[in-house]
Amino acid sequence: MTQALQIISNEHRNMWQLSVVLDDLCKQLVKGDEKPDAELFGMIFDYIEQYIERVHEPKEETHLYQAVLRRSSEGREMIARFQLEHAETPAAVARLRNQLGILMQNHPQGVAEFREVVDRYLSLLRQHIMKEESELFPLARRTLTDTDWDAINSAFADSSDPQFGDESRAEFRVLLSRIVNQAPEPIGFGLREALPEPDAHPVLLSVQDLSSHYGRIQALRGVTLEVRQGQLVALVGANGAGKTTLLRAISGVQRVSGGAIGFAGHDITYMRPDQRVRLGICQVPEGRQVFGPLSVEDNLRLGAYTRCDKKAIEDDLEQMYAMFPILKQKFRQAAGTLSGGQQQMLAMARALMGRPKLLLLDEPSMGLAPLLIQEIFNAIISLREHGKTVFLVEQNAQAALTIADRAYVIETGETVLSGTGSELLNNEQVKSAYLGI
Ligand SMILES: Nc1ncnc2c1ncn2[C@@H]1O[C@H](COP(=O)(O)OP(=O)(O)O)[C@@H](O)[C@H]1O
Ligand SMILES: [Mg+2]
Repeated sequence: MTQALQIISNEHRNMWQLSVVLDDLCKQLVKGDEKPDAELFGMIFDYIEQYIERVHEPKEETHLYQAVLRRSSEGREMIARFQLEHAETPAAVARLRNQLGILMQNHPQGVAEFREVVDRYLSLLRQHIMKEESELFPLARRTLTDTDWDAINSAFADSSDPQFGDESRAEFRVLLSRIVNQAPEPIGFGLREALPEPDAHPVLLSVQDLSSHYGRIQALRGVTLEVRQGQLVALVGANGAGKTTLLRAISGVQRVSGGAIGFAGHDITYMRPDQRVRLGICQVPEGRQVFGPLSVEDNLRLGAYTRCDKKAIEDDLEQMYAMFPILKQKFRQAAGTLSGGQQQMLAMARALMGRPKLLLLDEPSMGLAPLLIQEIFNAIISLREHGKTVFLVEQNAQAALTIADRAYVIETGETVLSGTGSELLNNEQVKSAYLGI
């Protein structure tokens, strides 16, 4: 993908995540009887105004829309519609602010109406984003020339531009982080900055043309992928595609029949599992497997069994409680009494207590209700925000691709596609095979 489309797509992702926060806030309003947090809503509306309306939209219009219009008449109608939608943003924000004002005066009567106005805005925003990515992007890729892209990319990269450059970015970044800090937990998919340059991170795990058999059945037939430090990388694929087998091969409990696995500069293809653990690979197996009769805290301490730095273990325990507040609430309870989602969090936290360099997660969303799935994915995002490197294996392609920096698709034991999370979310093949679109 070109740099400019990548930037737009990342911005879309931030907007989408913001829309999830707004949605969650409304849901809480409907459920609870607390007055709305007017300041937080106000900041979100500010963000829409300052960033979406003032930076994102004009940038797209000036550079991308105009270039497409110059090259092809095919997009004329679509772009006119997009421009109209952009032009309506100020009125939409005014409606949101107005309705919030009414709600503040008239709480809780105004909740349903406020919700309606927010819903209408969110559905337009989301449709707009999806249409741009599924219709405008492909048209731009088809019709624009290399010279066009050079011009667009350099406009997007111009950090001194008063409107699109570093300064305005810094401004919205501050606003965004204030929204995130003030949003109640757990909420949304978490918000994050545009992706750092992929090459800025050293490769931690590399899998090269890996194959593996169960007797005569070949479960892996050419898996190639890499995970860079600090990244959240997802592998998505159907049931039976070979995801668990791959994780077991990386952990060293599944024999490899060809190819190679490298980790942190070592060739670990034939290394013993315990040595891999010592190097910093830790797998959270499918189906969680916490120690049911033991307390939450004892489970966590067990995760640190290879360590003897007592003070640091206590610090890490606190860090886990900060990252997963629900575990702190239940630290004395038997792990077996936790819900499925909470057990999944415990299993992740326990793995982190060993201070792994790489966390392998096998289908953490399996068997969980949609709301819990979102909670688990929030937790995974927060891992990444704490600088952990995560390799996530999932059948739930939509959720995994939404949060992944990079992703791979595995089909019958073979990696067949790769790209950034948003590239794959927008990939036609992925859409029809995994997203049901
Ligand atoms: N213990 C086993 N013995 C024989 N075949 C297995 C075994 N485990 C998995 N397989 C086969 O290997 C393939 C990949 O399985 P698996 O890695 O569990 O897939 P996924 O985790 O993607 O659902 C499947 O065809 C499955 O039937
Ligand atoms: Mg599996």
